[in-house]
Amino acid sequence: MAEAQQAVLEVRGLKVEFPGRRGVATALSDVSLSIRPGEILGVVGESGAGKSMTGLAIQGLLERPGHIAEGEIWLADRRIDNLGDRDMEKIRGREIGAIFQDPLTSLNPLFTVGAQLTETIRQHLGMGRAEARARAISLLKDVGIPSPEERFGQYPHQFSGGMRQRVVIALALAASPKLIIADEPTTALDVSIQAQITSLLRRLCKEKGTAVMLVTHDMGVIAETADRVAVLYAGRLIEIGPVDQVLRAPKHPYTRGLMASIPALGARVERLNQIDGSMPRLDAIPPGCAFNPRCKEAGPRCMRERPGLLPAGAGASACWLNAGGTA
Ligand SMILES: Nc1ncnc2c1ncn2[C@@H]1O[C@H](COP(=O)(O)OP(=O)(O)OP(=O)(O)O)[C@@H](O)[C@H]1O
Ligand code: SF4
Ligand SMILES: [Mg+2]
Repeated sequence: MAEAQQAVLEVRGLKVEFPGRRGVATALSDVSLSIRPGEILGVVGESGAGKSMTGLAIQGLLERPGHIAEGEIWLADRRIDNLGDRDMEKIRGREIGAIFQDPLTSLNPLFTVGAQLTETIRQHLGMGRAEARARAISLLKDVGIPSPEERFGQYPHQFSGGMRQRVVIALALAASPKLIIADEPTTALDVSIQAQITSLLRRLCKEKGTAVMLVTHDMGVIAETADRVAVLYAGRLIEIGPVDQVLRAPKHPYTRGLMASIPALGARVERLNQIDGSMPRLDAIPPGCAFNPRCKEAGPRCMRERPGLLPAGAGASACWLNAGGTA
């Protein structure tokens, strides 16, 4: 498969489990997706659907006792789901950059932004002090921070929220990673600044050929930024496809409900939670299709058999009704 060979990230049949006192909770089940160089994959779904969990599993950051129980994660031609902590530490920052909702998660308040950027650059790229400083200043300029030479010597608290998230983007890009995982990168920012940050992220990743997994609740951000979209539901990937198809002609009944609940494309919504009923808890996922209690199109097969991803238009959808099938 030519597409699979080119992918920066390839996740195959990922299953994440959390053993607990009341049994094992399956947080992700059979999640498969890939992202090519320079491509932005938007990841959407209700709260608790498994969006952050997918990003954490890829970065080797699952909170114990959570672990990958099945599946494989490939970064270009290297399998990374079975690496030890030390190898994963090297990959984080160097090959996978991270941007989280709160810029302060990624920044240390005790060090100047210049020191943090140079530290990351030196650690991962083995540059000398002067060269790392020059690269740091050029990165600050790339992310649109005015007077980068002066800003280099300032502390995170001296930056506004939007400027701080720009610094985090610079930090994520510092070692020219192949992949960036951005989990709700603009949710904590003023609405007026959100679009600037997402278009900056898009421009930089297109220029540098970085693959991006962009987790967001905001369909406006998806419409403006993503090339393809993955929809998660109860820890399962239920639809994936080109952004136009998923937003305008979704193939899965859940995605259709999700899109219908949004007043107008481009409008910004806080939570995507307006379909009748609620997503099942991880320990109460029904047999068959996880969406069956809420699905108006459910038939007997949906109660018994779990649908896998099937080709649907230019993408894929996990529903028995695909390709003229019956539920
Ligand atoms: N440490 C943990 N132990 C057990 N279950 C967990 C743990 N952390 C998260 N979960 C469960 O895993 C599921 C997926 O959570 P995740 O954080 O990925 O959701 P999300 O899609 O990112 O939601 P949100 O939009 O609220 O950020 C949730 O049901 C959550 O309760
Ligand atoms: S498989 Fe059945 S229950 Fe699930 S979305 Fe399709 S029609 Fe609805
Ligand atoms: Mg999350």
